[in-house]
Amino acid sequence: MRRLRKKKLRQILKEVRLSKDNLIVPIFVDENLKEPYEIPSMPSYFRYPIDGVVDEVERCMEIGLKAFILFGLPSYKDEKGSSAYDRDGVIQKALRAVSKEFDDAILITDVCLCEYTSHGHCGVVEGMEILNDPTLELIAETALSHAEAGADIVAPSGMMDGMVKAIREKLDGNGFQDIPIMSYSAKYASSFYSPFREAADSGFAFGDRKSYQMDIHNSDEAMREIELDIMEGADIVMVKPALAYLDIIRRAKDTFNIPLAAYNVSGEYAMVKSAEKLGWLDGKAIAYEILTAIKRAGADLIITYHAKEIADLI
Ligand code: PBG
Repeated sequence: MRRLRKKKLRQILKEVRLSKDNLIVPIFVDENLKEPYEIPSMPSYFRYPIDGVVDEVERCMEIGLKAFILFGLPSYKDEKGSSAYDRDGVIQKALRAVSKEFDDAILITDVCLCEYTSHGHCGVVEGMEILNDPTLELIAETALSHAEAGADIVAPSGMMDGMVKAIREKLDGNGFQDIPIMSYSAKYASSFYSPFREAADSGFAFGDRKSYQMDIHNSDEAMREIELDIMEGADIVMVKPALAYLDIIRRAKDTFNIPLAAYNVSGEYAMVKSAEKLGWLDGKAIAYEILTAIKRAGADLIITYHAKEIADLI
């Protein structure tokens, strides 16, 4: 076996390879900021004011990263998450600002209510319950407002049943037949999201997300979720988180013939960065290894907070 491991030969024999084309950079846009703000639990990761997002996109484009997923921190929150579908909301403004400057930047939007609701849940709340069907119209309206403002792809992440179908119908009915949907199809109720909740100020006032996000013990169920999303019209499906769910990524890749994304989430990033800070491991090398593993498991696209720091390695 060692014959093919000679330094000179290794390069032509790599079975998978990371590419900047497959990485998606998450960007947090905060309407309430004047200056970038470093997120405490995500070292070297920032929230940006709207004009700062344009600069950040420019810095990424310069190093060859061209796809972005935008998360918003609005100036107001209410029970129904009105700022999510406000035509003058934070994401809508950011989309207009970025698409004006950069034609070729690929702008994906996270479509969810949790950053915009006063209770922090991903749907309409009644008592202690998160209602499914009344939420669909609000999610669809949010997706439409993103498409109108210049989104290239919309990515619903709220794990409401029927969300892909509701969005597809809304987009098609309003002249946006050509906007693809990347669905967070198999999104687990994971403890790996806690730094994100600080980053996006989307913690919840009561309970947990287990009545809508998936049980971590399940794999068959993830295949049902993905299958339903494909039937409802998803163009790209997603598994989230990534690192502890490589089995799900591989199974999805083997089961379905559709572009597959994986989300290397905030807690995965925070683990690497905190150990790096302590000098316990080489953060960049670990990030490269983790992302290669996600790719090897079968992901076509990877959403990752590490994109900028490893861009020069690939
Ligand atoms: C919104 C959303 C979350 C993440 C992406 N979209 C948070 C959640 O579901 O609680 C998490 C991303 C990350 O941890 O990096 N629903």
